[in-house]
Parts: sequence; C-alpha cells; structure tokens
Amino acid sequence: MRFFLTAKAIIVLFLIGGCSGSPATLKPEGPAAASISQLSWMLIGLGSIVYIAVCGFLLLALFRRSQKEDKADAGDRATGSGIVLWGGIIIPTAILLFVMVLTVRTLIQLSETAQQSELTIDVIGNQWWWEIHYPDQGVTTANEIHIPTGQAVRINLTAQGVIHSFWVPQLHGKLDMVPGQTNTMHIQADTPGEYRGICAEFCGIQHARMLFLIVAEPPDVFATWLEAQRLSAVEPQDELARRGKEVFFDSTCDQCHAIAGTEATGRLGPDLTHFASRREIAAGTLINNRGNLAGWIAGPQELKPGNLMPATVLPGPDLQALLTYLESLR
Ligand code: CUA
Repeated sequence: MRFFLTAKAIIVLFLIGGCSGSPATLKPEGPAAASISQLSWMLIGLGSIVYIAVCGFLLLALFRRSQKEDKADAGDRATGSGIVLWGGIIIPTAILLFVMVLTVRTLIQLSETAQQSELTIDVIGNQWWWEIHYPDQGVTTANEIHIPTGQAVRINLTAQGVIHSFWVPQLHGKLDMVPGQTNTMHIQADTPGEYRGICAEFCGIQHARMLFLIVAEPPDVFATWLEAQRLSAVEPQDELARRGKEVFFDSTCDQCHAIAGTEATGRLGPDLTHFASRREIAAGTLINNRGNLAGWIAGPQELKPGNLMPATVLPGPDLQALLTYLESLR
C-alpha cells in the first residue's frame, strides 16, 4: 500500500514538473495569462473544496450506515429531503453562479487589454508553419514573432487549408485559426524572453512539429529588429555566397520562397529575406545552424515527413555555396 502511494506521489510530481519547462503553463508572463492563471487556480481550489466535502459526506454516510446495521432497525429515519434541497440544488447553484461571475470577470479583464494595442500582427496557419505579417510596417517573416515588452499587441489569426490553433501558454489562452475567418487576440509580455508557442488543434501528421517562438524584447531593441526586417535582403558580398544565390535560383527554391530585393517571390513556403536572423528551421523542428540547414535542404521528408518541401539533391560544393548564401540573409 505504502509502495503504491509513494509511486503515485512520484508520478504526480513528475507530471507537475512537466508544467514548469517551456511552454510553462503555470508561469504567466503577461496580464492575459495572469488572469487566466488566476481563474484556473480559483477553479482548482473551489473544485478541491467541493471534492473534499463530498468525500467527507460519503464517509459519514458509510459510517452511519455501519452503525445503523448494528442496531438493525432504522426504518423511520428522516427521508433526507433537506440534504437534497441544500446539497443538490441551493449550494451547487450558488457555486455555479460564483464560477460564472469569476469567468465573466476574467473575460472582461481580457477584453480590457484589447483596447490599448498599437501594434498589429497577422498570423496565418499553414500546414505546418506560421506565416507572419506586420501589415503596417510591410514586414513578412515566419515562425518567430517579435513583440515589444509592456505593450498589448493585436494578433489577427487565420489559416489556409485546415484549422489550427494559436497557443502561447505563458501569454494567453488558445484561439482557433479558421480558414476564411479572422479571430483576434491581444497578447502582452511583461518581461523580455522567448516564449514557446504551439499549434493546439490537430492539423495533420506534423501537428506536433508546428511550433513557433514569441521573442519579447524591450521596445528599443524591438524597434531595431523591426527596422532591420523592413529592409530588402543584402546582396551577397563574397564569391561563395554569390554562387549560392545562383544555386538558389537554379534549384527552383524561388518557386516556393520569397527573398525581398530578388526575383524570388514564391509564397508556398516561409519568406527567407532575413532567414538567418531566425532561431529555428521548419517551425521549431530544428535549431537554425549550418549542419541542420544542410540536412533540411537534402532531406526535409526524413526530418518532417509530409511537409510541402521537396528534397534538393546538390553536389557538395553547390550545397556549401547555398548554405553560405542563406546564412548571409540576416
Ligand atoms: Cu497546426 Cu496543429
């Protein structure tokens, strides 16, 4: 018995430990997530009190019944209509009304954040990556959303093809991304940092590899980032990168990817204008470094089966040149 209790306690500890890594659902970093977290804790507390009370009554009933059986006759005890009235109707109604008040209060708090945002970001869910636009600044990027700290940011969500769901546990609750419809949420991060976002709606075989990052930066750092993202891609400076650019166009990469300032205007895959400034490849599948990028170009179907990117088989020197070019797109 003691062994089972210890084992259960260890499992529970492991499960709770799972909530502290990234994305940490129990560690809110913005006002919206804080409101949601507060509501969750109140509901967990309330639910625990109700659970303990019901268990207490159950034990009491069992105890009384065992005593009654000892006395053998108990036919004329009260029918218990008072308990039914209070325990079955009045108290549950009061608790549910209280829960409704808490929930409505949280919804009002979430909509208050909504009124103050100056920055708008459009996010489109694709199978299986995130297309990101800063419409007022003319910036397009993918899988990595930069926001300034201490400000509410308006996020317009939609999708292409199938439904996805946008979820950054430390900043807000989840919201569906539906083709042909725009849903709006407002997020705010109070402290600089990287917050993991995930797709929270099953959207096909690579649903689990549909991740993104919210990078929250102090306003001046964010402004610098945004200014850099508005620029066209830099022209390759050295011979190898120039050769890489030729390889890019010869290999028809431009059919699916866009690079501002070049003839590449494809829209099927992520915009690569400032690809090298991003931390990850293929929506959080790999860290963005030269080795991983080489593997991704040569074998995207091995790394993320079913995604739209075909393998590009290149002679070694051409691949090296292409990597150098892509790494120059900062
Ligand atoms: Cu997109 Cu799941």
